[in-house]
Amino acid sequence: VIRPASSDDLDAIAPLAARLVREHHHYDPQRFFLPERVEEGYRWWLGRELANPQATLLVAEEDGVVVGYTYGRLEERDWNALLDECGALHDVYVDEKARRRGIARALVMAMCDALKKRGAPRIVLHTASPNAAAQALFSSLGFRSTMIELTRELP
Ligand SMILES: CC(C)(COP(=O)(O)OP(=O)(O)OC[C@H]1O[C@@H](n2cnc3c(N)ncnc32)[C@H](O)[C@@H]1OP(=O)(O)O)[C@@H](O)C(=O)NCCC(=O)NCCS
Repeated sequence: VIRPASSDDLDAIAPLAARLVREHHHYDPQRFFLPERVEEGYRWWLGRELANPQATLLVAEEDGVVVGYTYGRLEERDWNALLDECGALHDVYVDEKARRRGIARALVMAMCDALKKRGAPRIVLHTASPNAAAQALFSSLGFRSTMIELTRELP
């Protein structure tokens, strides 16, 4: 079942969000920060976003257990990025034990629908360069590659 999240889901979502953050930090510790008390931090942040009318937080539930979530938001025109108002898919995470059963696909499609209903003409998202699974997922759903981010440390 894919459904909108409520504040009762935050205890289940926060550990998944923390894993998403840790995985990114592991890819490149300098580029992706790992805040202290990451679980608590993202519980606070996503709880705040639940009250944001521009944001959407959805969960995937199996037999009453949350096994994945996605978080997205309508974003305003960004002149620096040459990016007009759009829907941004910020997070999608599926518990390891529930993978390769189409749950992420269902979450992403539900997020696309939700953001379209709010007026988004397109969805834009970022995926870490080494994250082949995410790239395969998004490409299978019709996302095209539009931007490459580069990072260099300054001595
Ligand atoms: C990426 C992720 C969300 C996929 O979740 P999932 O529920 O297993 O994905 P689905 O079962 O819906 O897969 C849909 C399609 O995506 C692709 N895909 C998913 N996982 C893949 C993998 N490990 N390797 C290659 N392709 C993969 C496949 O095309 C798959 O279709 P198929 O199973 O018919 O071949 C999950 O692995 C995850 O949570 N990873 C960690 C968090 C993450 O990277 N999030 C994305 C951040 S941008």
